[in-house]
Amino acid sequence: MSNFLDDVWRGLSTSPKQLDSRYFYDETGDEIFQEIMACPEYYLTNCELEIFSDQSGKLAEDLLADLHDFDVVELGAGDCTKSIYLLRALLERKALFTYYPIDISAHVISQLSIDLPAKLPGLGMQGLNGDHFEMLEKLRKISQKPKLVLFLGSSIGNLPIADAPGFYKKMKEYLAPGDLVLTGFDLKKEPAIILAAYNDKAGITRRFNLNLLTRINRELGADFDITQFAHKPAYNEQTGSCESYLESLNEQQVHIEAKGDVSFKAGERIRMEVSQKYTVPQTDEIAANAGFRPVRKYYDTRQWFMDALWRC
Ligand code: AVI
Repeated sequence: MSNFLDDVWRGLSTSPKQLDSRYFYDETGDEIFQEIMACPEYYLTNCELEIFSDQSGKLAEDLLADLHDFDVVELGAGDCTKSIYLLRALLERKALFTYYPIDISAHVISQLSIDLPAKLPGLGMQGLNGDHFEMLEKLRKISQKPKLVLFLGSSIGNLPIADAPGFYKKMKEYLAPGDLVLTGFDLKKEPAIILAAYNDKAGITRRFNLNLLTRINRELGADFDITQFAHKPAYNEQTGSCESYLESLNEQQVHIEAKGDVSFKAGERIRMEVSQKYTVPQTDEIAANAGFRPVRKYYDTRQWFMDALWRC
């Protein structure tokens, strides 16, 4: 809790103002994100689902050429909608593996522990509830087997591109040479398609962003008037960075109970989220900078999205 308060205060005290998009995901945020994933403009989920539903057999064979008696670790497993195809393909091939879904939500992990064994009889699994790296540390003590780490959904895109190699370098501390990582990258494409995904007609993404202000009001005793902020996404075609802002409609002050007042000028923005889009060479460069070797790339039919397999 104190981290949330300090992070919010720090973010609103700097110029330009910003909030950390990791805080989007309270219970309501989780629900709104499910709505986003089901909305017609948010193509990312369907693209990656197509890759997993159509190519999991091939992916499983590629993996089994390298791994035997191994762990499948999924960072931010959610409801496993995509990875279940791969798990099924591995089971069909009689692969020897244990699945370790990691998720920050205790609810997600307990639900998976009920649902998955029913859907995939014979699956060995152990859910880990907590922060990605803390759970990788915990897993290091549970199993020293070779690993495949799944990091799907373009979650890496929520880090600024300059921070991506650092993220994988840190991941590497928990891996051994030969271990594999499969990451979902959203690729650069027609700017209007990208912008629409973050500016859906039904206003779901707008609610998703405003929900963080509501959460700050509730949990930190603040008094944001959410009717006084407009949702403004922007896509920079050159950098590939899609950024979501909340723009203050007026000059206004917001009070945060334990900290003090934050002043907004009319038109001043809070940067809420970065959703990076990549070229394929950029992803290869991230791999090289972090000490991984790209092994294989899996695309959807439109080539809007890519899951890249890297070897440590
Ligand atoms: C979780 N993450 C990859 C999503 C994205 O596309 O950046 C979060 C999101 N924000 C708005 N819509 C979806």
